[in-house]
Amino acid sequence: MYRPWGDRMTEKGLEALFSETRQFAPSPDFVSRANAHADIYGLANADPEGWWRQQATRLSWAKEPTTTLEWDLPNARWFADGELNAAYNCVDRHVENGLGDRVAIHWVADQPGEERTITYADLHRMVQQAANALEELGVREGDRVAVYMPMIPEAVVALLAVVRLGAMHSVVFGGFAADALASRIQDSDCRVVITADGAFRRGSVSPLKPAVDQALESCPGVEKVLVVQRTRTPVEWVDGRDHWWHEIVERQDPHHQWRAFNAEHPLFIMYTSGTTAKPKGIFHTTGGYLTQVATTYHYVFDHKPETDICWTAADIGWITGHSYIVYGPLINAATQVMYEGLPDSGGQDRWWRIIESHKVTVLYTAPTTIRTLMKWGHQIPAGHDLTSLRLLGTVGEPINPEAWVWYHTYIGGERCPIVDTWWQTETGAIMATPLPGVTATKPGAAMRAFPGISLEVVDEQGHVVGHGQGGYLVITRPWPSMTRGIWGDPQRFFDTYWNRFEGRYFAGDGAKYDDDGDLWLLGRVDDVMNVSGHRLSTTEVEHALVSHHAVAEAAVVGASDEHTGQAIVAFVTLKLSATDAEADHAQTIAALRQHVATVISPIAKPRQIILTPELPKTRSGKIMRRLLRDVAENRQLGDVTTLTDPTVVNMIAGLMGTHSSDD
Ligand code: WT7
Repeated sequence: MYRPWGDRMTEKGLEALFSETRQFAPSPDFVSRANAHADIYGLANADPEGWWRQQATRLSWAKEPTTTLEWDLPNARWFADGELNAAYNCVDRHVENGLGDRVAIHWVADQPGEERTITYADLHRMVQQAANALEELGVREGDRVAVYMPMIPEAVVALLAVVRLGAMHSVVFGGFAADALASRIQDSDCRVVITADGAFRRGSVSPLKPAVDQALESCPGVEKVLVVQRTRTPVEWVDGRDHWWHEIVERQDPHHQWRAFNAEHPLFIMYTSGTTAKPKGIFHTTGGYLTQVATTYHYVFDHKPETDICWTAADIGWITGHSYIVYGPLINAATQVMYEGLPDSGGQDRWWRIIESHKVTVLYTAPTTIRTLMKWGHQIPAGHDLTSLRLLGTVGEPINPEAWVWYHTYIGGERCPIVDTWWQTETGAIMATPLPGVTATKPGAAMRAFPGISLEVVDEQGHVVGHGQGGYLVITRPWPSMTRGIWGDPQRFFDTYWNRFEGRYFAGDGAKYDDDGDLWLLGRVDDVMNVSGHRLSTTEVEHALVSHHAVAEAAVVGASDEHTGQAIVAFVTLKLSATDAEADHAQTIAALRQHVATVISPIAKPRQIILTPELPKTRSGKIMRRLLRDVAENRQLGDVTTLTDPTVVNMIAGLMGTHSSDD
């Protein structure tokens, strides 16, 4: 276990975080409708379950729940005898309430000039038609449907149509390669895949359907593939299996009768990296998940449905997109911008043009993107009118104070509060955050647990540590949107999260309450890396490397990186037979990086690969990753006395400069 408050981040990271003591008071003129009136912290702390029961009334229930929490560690059931339909809550009820003409989605394409406006009435029709189409393709309650799509409105429609039928979606990020897609489809036994011909990225096409075709060679359980035409690139076609969205969906009856499902009915699976090579199928259920995403969206973004234009700049392929593009905003009848492209599709000022033209009021994004925008220079946003913005959010990794202050100054015009929201795929919704208009903010701090959530920082033995001391972040009580488990592996669920500190959920993050009692997140303490906000496991990348014919052994570490938060550094030994044949190191390194991209995704390509004749091992044969991290981060080497051969690590440190690649 790493101790980020101890042996990592010592020189730069942690010191930099804590030397920034500036505090931003809640701006009084900002105090909002959502947050102004009640002492919600007081209310929630006095009776957390009562608070969540109250919040569950944000949903329309076909059958009101009479129970709140049933807890048999690690199994939680929230609102368990209630019944509801997720899609009805996101769409139908708003239309019934007279909001059919409200814009749900201002969709902005990768390339400037192409936009679509989708009202709640439009969404209603599209979801019902898609639900009818999926039924025609044989999707039934309880089935799993894989979704591998670009950021287009049909992705939102697909998710809502799936859950309307009581089936589960399993969205696989469009940047994953065919192998990664196949293993996720197999793990949850999906019957149907929804995809597109391709996706646009900075005007060029990145193919999706070909990856599906390749993945399905090893997924005999998939019976149907539904394909949206987005790029109009020619694709292969399997008759009987493949169907065009525009042919089958658009001819459907625009009425579809929804049914109510139990509050604990499974809603979706989202795969995420753990500490082993096999991604975990984190699954969520309906009533508790929807309650917490709706509540956090309302309070954290201080949401004003009549006037706000919200933009969560994330991809639907990750949990942020599920909770704060699809379910949270739609339950709250929000109007959103949904953007297909990259931050510089159509120019480095693209984001600011979108904010200016759509008068975006709330922007939610990741530190890695803020750092990229920052690198391009503040004169780029300065050329645009960003005065519509009133609130900024960040999520995905600890935000360095420089990026926070830049975001506050140049994007927020020193006027917008910043909510730094800590949560995880497993938590389903925001768990720690300041509340705009209520709590102060500090650059780099997540500040406080959300009302109704209870967090502690503990030491190795599980004892609560004092203010000013680092430790492990734990969650002491079940919360409505907590994952109900790992698909098909209840034992792993218990072992990973509930067995480290008795009775408490172990998040895998280091944290610290400062002397004012404000919460700071310090990064992962396990073998999970956070590269540009993408969660990857060191073991997963090691397995990918070792699957290459030339590789004997590989050790992967996450090293801190100015731009990407962490970067992947791999130490690789080649097979004896390969050492001569693959004498061209540069070429071998290039081939290995490409191999990782093909097996997992381009996002998993190591920044650096160091070819070494040996890896540092303990006498019992364990690779000393801690030392490799020191090497990768150019740090003074720690204790090397337990190594079989202490000279190995110095040799590797020497190699760092020569045989590496960081294009
Ligand atoms: C991990 C979860 C939550 C949606 C995106 C990531 C890190 C997330 C913060 C934050 C510091 C953060 C943690 C966490 N993380 N938000 N505001 N400050 N760290 O979801 O892929 O499940 O990753 O992201 O390390 O454990 P995810």
